[in-house]
Amino acid sequence: MKKLIYIAAAIIVIAGLFAISHINAKEKTMTNNNVLVAYFSATGNTRGVAERLATATGADLFEIQPEILYTDDDLNWRNDKSRSSIEMGNKDSRPVIANTIDDISKYDTIFLGFPIWWGREPSIVDTFLTSYDFTGKTIIPFATSGSTPSTAEAAENMRPLAPNVSIPNGARFPVDVTADELKTWADEWL
Ligand SMILES: Cc1cc2nc3c(=O)[nH]c(=O)nc-3n(C[C@H](O)[C@H](O)[C@H](O)COP(=O)(O)O)c2cc1C
Repeated sequence: MKKLIYIAAAIIVIAGLFAISHINAKEKTMTNNNVLVAYFSATGNTRGVAERLATATGADLFEIQPEILYTDDDLNWRNDKSRSSIEMGNKDSRPVIANTIDDISKYDTIFLGFPIWWGREPSIVDTFLTSYDFTGKTIIPFATSGSTPSTAEAAENMRPLAPNVSIPNGARFPVDVTADELKTWADEWL
């Protein structure tokens, strides 16, 4: 009889532990409305990655839209007088963003995407970083690029612009990175 009681008690404890772990897993998925994917994309490559990342993680999506759109001439890095060359040559440059996030306080984790320009984040990403109070949040950079292999230099630039924010080095992705690959990467922070 005693043996039966022990077995029954053990079953109840195991079932309880299973239920708790299940609830935790569910909560984890549901709290993804605390996650934002914000991105800037001049020619569409980063947009595709950002959209797949947002879908794969269940995050909100926000496109950083320049007040003045970048033309092909603006993006000509071979011309040292082009808009992008001038902006990127001045670390204090803050191109104006046309749109805003309604309530930044509801996000704990922000994946911030951009194309690599001159080895780092475009100046308009610096505008974004200095436009909100991100204190206590985590901002994870991600990027597309022609060949620059990482976002480490971008992260280094970004850290002083958003004090009291955790900014890991993040990652550079090929434009055809899959939603599954993005989800696996993002799960480290979710
Ligand atoms: C002004 C400018 C500077 C760039 N600088 C770099 C660079 O330093 N390293 C690199 O690998 N690619 C560089 N690229 C290429 C972009 O990072 C790449 O094409 C990116 O995928 C574009 O993303 P988007 O379509 O989201 O704008 C540069 C592109 C532009 C327009």
